[in-house]
Amino acid sequence: MKSLEKNITIFENEFKSAIQSAEMFDDLEKVRVSFLGRKGKITELMSQMKALPIEDKRKMGPKLNLIRKNSEQSYEDKKRQLIQKQRDLEILKKQQFDVTAYKPETLQGSLHVITKLTEQIENIFISMGYQIADGPELETAHYNFDALNIPDDHPSRDTRDTFWLETPGLLMRTETSAIQIHELEKQGVPLALIGPGKVYRNEATDASHAFIFRQVEGLIVDKDISMGNLLATVKVVLQKLFEKQDLEIRVRSAYFPFVEPGIEFDFCCPFCKSGCSTCKQTGWIELGGAGLVHPNVLKHCKIDPKVYSGFAFGFGVERLAMIKYGINDIRLFHSGSIDFLRQF
Ligand code: DAH
Repeated sequence: MKSLEKNITIFENEFKSAIQSAEMFDDLEKVRVSFLGRKGKITELMSQMKALPIEDKRKMGPKLNLIRKNSEQSYEDKKRQLIQKQRDLEILKKQQFDVTAYKPETLQGSLHVITKLTEQIENIFISMGYQIADGPELETAHYNFDALNIPDDHPSRDTRDTFWLETPGLLMRTETSAIQIHELEKQGVPLALIGPGKVYRNEATDASHAFIFRQVEGLIVDKDISMGNLLATVKVVLQKLFEKQDLEIRVRSAYFPFVEPGIEFDFCCPFCKSGCSTCKQTGWIELGGAGLVHPNVLKHCKIDPKVYSGFAFGFGVERLAMIKYGINDIRLFHSGSIDFLRQF
């Protein structure tokens, strides 16, 4: 019996220190198997009882049972402790999550270069007191042609240039000039606006032509508006846009049915000295047209051309972007090339 009592003391001491030093579930499980398992140390102590006389068995039996019960309880307590510890660790890990350590690998989206340039143009005009107008891309022949003094037999009505819809009289607008009519009808005079937007042309593409592109239409109608106002306005806007005082621009007379007189602005080709495919060997890149609003357009909008006059212009946004950023092919803007777009 003496030796069993000694072994019990050893068991209790060893079990206590094993439980204390178990830091993880795995350690605790090992303690359980080696001390409390079917082939563990407690079973061994129980079997040592077999050799004892009946008297001693009666004494040691309940004692060993109590030891087993207490040991199992200590095991359960420790198990609960370890579960709590594990949870605390997880919470701590979450709290210490360092958001600044995350370095995104994916590309970040940004505004398209044409959108950005359009916003710059808008801001320049807003600072000059102009309003921003919008209009439908799907137009009627009335707004796209008739009201703009474009007669039935004008070549731009030819199917080569216009995307007509199957419904007669409907088309994808070929120029933002249609916005002028909508706004003059709606707001009357005096009026100063720009109307940026997409236009559609049923024609072949090349380095400087796309079949969908963007224009910025401009219109001012008031008393005593002159060609001088037009030239000064365009000059100031381009100087601001290109952040440069001396620009190589030329003005030519041109015909547009909705202005009289009409002119065209060209920018000296930045890509060559004596002609290239972008400027079609001319040394100049066409920016757009302008002129003094035709009396017929004013009359159509019930405005007296003897009292009011105005100027209008329409510039290609992609063309401006090509010159500003030195891009020699208009098709690049909508090529979907991320490498190209990331430059801006
Ligand atoms: N709408 C013309 C075009 O697409 C550009 C233009 C010319 C607009 C003269 C105007 C203008 O407002 O007065 O080619």
